[in-house]
Parts: sequence; C-alpha cells; structure tokens
Amino acid sequence: PSVMSSGSRPSIIRDDAFEFPRNRLMIQEILGQGAFGVVRLATASGICKTPGTTLVAVKTIRDEATPEERSEFVKELEVMISVKQCGSHKNIVNFLGCCTQDDPLCVIVEYCKKGNLRDYLISFRSHPDDFLRWWDNAEILMSTADPDDPVSSNAARDMVSQTVLLSFSRQIAQGMEFLAANKCIHRDLAARNVLVDSDNVLKIADFGLARNGEYYKKTSRGQLPVKWMPPEALFDQKYTEKSDVWSFGVVLWEIFTLGGMPYSTIPHEDLYSKLVAGYRMERPPLAPESLYETMKGCWNHYPDKRPDFTLLVMILERQLVRVA
Ligand code: ADE
Repeated sequence: PSVMSSGSRPSIIRDDAFEFPRNRLMIQEILGQGAFGVVRLATASGICKTPGTTLVAVKTIRDEATPEERSEFVKELEVMISVKQCGSHKNIVNFLGCCTQDDPLCVIVEYCKKGNLRDYLISFRSHPDDFLRWWDNAEILMSTADPDDPVSSNAARDMVSQTVLLSFSRQIAQGMEFLAANKCIHRDLAARNVLVDSDNVLKIADFGLARNGEYYKKTSRGQLPVKWMPPEALFDQKYTEKSDVWSFGVVLWEIFTLGGMPYSTIPHEDLYSKLVAGYRMERPPLAPESLYETMKGCWNHYPDKRPDFTLLVMILERQLVRVA
C-alpha cells in the first residue's frame, strides 16, 4: 500500500508487530528538533513487554511535511525496523515501536537522559571533576599521586580524563560495529548524533536517516555536516562502512577536544582541496599519541586502508588497558 493512501487504517510498515497503541503514550516536553519534526519525551505503558511505564523519546513528523518528507520518514522507520530485527545493542538508540495507523506518524525510541554527547563533552570543560565521578577507579588512581606535587596530580588527572574519553570512543566503536555488521551505514556519525544515557552509556542515534544531499546546509547548531564526510562521500556520494570510519575519526577528535568544532579555522570551500593535499587536524592535547595515530588511520585517503569498526574496537580496548 502506498504511504499516502488514505484507505481505512493503511498499514505503512510491512510488519505491524511494532505498532504501539497511541493511547498508551503520554506525550510530555520537547527534547529537541529532529530532521522531520520535534522529538518529545513521553511515558509509554507496557512497551516491549516491560510492565508499568517507561520513559521513551517519540519522533514525530510535522503536520506540514511534504509527501517526500513523509516517505523519507517512513524509510527511516523501515531502516530502524530492519536493524531491530537483527537484535538490540546497548550502544545504539534502540527502536521500541511506532504509531503509523493514523497521523501524526510516530517513531518510539529509547530515551537518553543526559542529551547529546557534544554538549555533554563541553560540560566537562567547566566541571573537570565530573571525570573523577565518572569512573570507579579514578579515586584509587588519584590517591597514588602526591597531592602536593602539581606535576604528579595533573598527570593522574589526565590519566583519568583519558580513560573516560577512551571509554566513550570504544562504546561508539562498539555501536558502529553492530550497525556495520547489520549492513547499516550511518552517513551522519558526529558527536551531536550520539546520546548519553544514565550510567554513562553512549548510544548512537539517527542511524536510520536517509540523506539526500543537504550537506551544505548547516545543522540547527550551525555545524556543517561536510566536515564529518570523507572525500569519496562528498565527491562521489560513495557511502560505505569505511566512510562512517572517517566520520568516526572526526568524532574521536571531538571527544578529545571536549566538543571542539572541527576545522574551525578553515573556510569550508578550502577544506576538500586541503584534505586531498594531505592536510589533517592536529593532535588534541588530551589525546595520547597512540589515539592520534588511530584517528589519522580513520582519515586515510583510501577507504580500503582505513580500519573497520571491529579492528577499531580492538585497538581502543588495547589503549584503554594501557592507561587504565
Ligand atoms: N533528543 C533526541 N532524541 C533523544 C533521545 N532518544 N533521548 C533524549 N534526547 C533526545
């Protein structure tokens, strides 16, 4: 049946096992702006066999959406359902259900209490002690430093920050490994599209989005998605797991700069000629040399020479053991 058909209760999705009764959703405040409309907090009763109520995020499509936007929204939903049919993963924003039998179309996903990773990283700049709270062993590590010796206590602090940031990196690589194994290419991996749940679990969001070439359009926060894209995606629209790996390298840079703006000094019209000529961003001061090598590996001009996410998980695990 066509997406636009207005017959009785059109079934938009092939498998209605994921339909959730709209009257069991209690919609609350707006969490943010999605690609097609707002995302709202809601409580869902009895969703996914969970007794009682669960806090969820509900993506809706705005009333004025064009037929094209509606079909893009349904495509996103279908990608999410196809990933869901492969299982769940703790490092992705899992799909929970949808309401498609009448308007407005809704997609229900896991709610992540602490918002997006970019803002979360920026908050560490003014609250560096949050790093210490984050990790159980931080106190033990800090106690090995001499509190009267600024060099040794700063070194211990850097060690704690690096461990937390490496753990963020590994969690994102794990979520991406799951998506790649299930043939899902993200196409817009960036810290703004990673969410932070309670207990500091990171989850990759918006992996179902079908993109259609609006990369020069700024995000609502003024960021240019082109800065996360490898040359082959920008020039030839060639998206693969390895183009996501390039974006992951930019995410590593965002993590180790605590939410920095990539290539902030380079006019965007100059960016691609510089990249093709071999220019790459410098090592962020917080990044260990080995992590910077990993970052540059993700930015290899040749997609085949970049690591895949399985290898990245192993590399990051090894680096975590080294500092932890
Ligand atoms: N903003 C957009 N999606 C969200 C989610 N799943 N959880 C929290 N905030 C969000």
